[in-house]
Amino acid sequence: MSPTIEIPSGVEWANGRLYFIDQTRIPLEFIRKEVTTLDIAEEAILSLKVRGAPAIATFASFALVLALREQAGKQLTLNAFLEEGIRVLERLLSTRPTAVNLSHAMRRMRNVFESGTVSSVEQLIDQIQREAEHIESEDKDLCATLGRLGNDLIGHRARIMTHCNTGALATAGIGTAIGAFYTAHRDRKDISVFACETRPLLQGSRLTAWELDRAGIRTTLITDNMAAHIMKEEKIDLVMVGADRIARNGDTANKIGTLGLAILAKHYGIPFYVVAPSTSVDSTLPRGSEIEIEERNPDEVRRFAGAQASPPQIPVRNPAFDVTPSELITAIVTERGIHRAPYSF
Ligand code: MRU
Repeated sequence: MSPTIEIPSGVEWANGRLYFIDQTRIPLEFIRKEVTTLDIAEEAILSLKVRGAPAIATFASFALVLALREQAGKQLTLNAFLEEGIRVLERLLSTRPTAVNLSHAMRRMRNVFESGTVSSVEQLIDQIQREAEHIESEDKDLCATLGRLGNDLIGHRARIMTHCNTGALATAGIGTAIGAFYTAHRDRKDISVFACETRPLLQGSRLTAWELDRAGIRTTLITDNMAAHIMKEEKIDLVMVGADRIARNGDTANKIGTLGLAILAKHYGIPFYVVAPSTSVDSTLPRGSEIEIEERNPDEVRRFAGAQASPPQIPVRNPAFDVTPSELITAIVTERGIHRAPYSF
């Protein structure tokens, strides 16, 4: 049984309507918004109002349903409608290039378009909606299993470091790495979590600290540059993070800063675990060097919490993710089990 948590998923599909929690406003306010157009859905993903690889996949799947409903009013022929649907799908697919769960979901949708089994626009929309509902409910189940398996790696009174946000907000279920923390907490393991703030967009301080605090898990927030000191001084037992894309050899792309934590963990002899559904594995890529890394707006680095924090024109790099080589990873947990090198997922 998965733990009952009071944090709602970042994405909600209810009575044929799509809602999301605006994650850019947490912890200041908790706003649930409805998606009524494709433009709103696209902007929500681009601006990280909806974020976290599994949540993006579920959200984009339902956004496609809504976009197709919008198109249905145009009285297109079935073929023209299918073409239009693929165009919308490509648009959603291009929003976040690193998170592979999105491409998995859009490939499933494309298969429906190309199945040749639909004979009307209504039937197509119906099938796309059913596929989106499957993607959502599968992700809930995946999270519950990941929580259970990840929990097996967490000892009583474990002191855990984590990065970014991998909780309910980032998935359709209880989360991935954070799902394991919820499960350990339910099992009364008395864990302590050290959450890295996760510059530049602060998913750790704004979202992870908020989720864990609400769940009653003992949580300490640190800035990213404190990680080495805290690993040593606080005797961290394990590092556990999520993933945006895992190559066949286990190299793992995750939020920028993850690679640094893995190097530090190796130095201090601390186990480093990745927890992610198999939908985060990209079986087309032999190694992590081939993972496309999203480069985001430089102003996210030049500014801090809405205020200018650097000379306004200073050149900036802003890669949203980095790739941790598999040799720095102790094990990767997917719903299929706890994998160790050499990896076969
Ligand atoms: O840019 P974000 O906030 O979407 O990045 C999220 C992460 O890096 C998460 O660790 C990853 O998507 C896993 S979420 C279960």
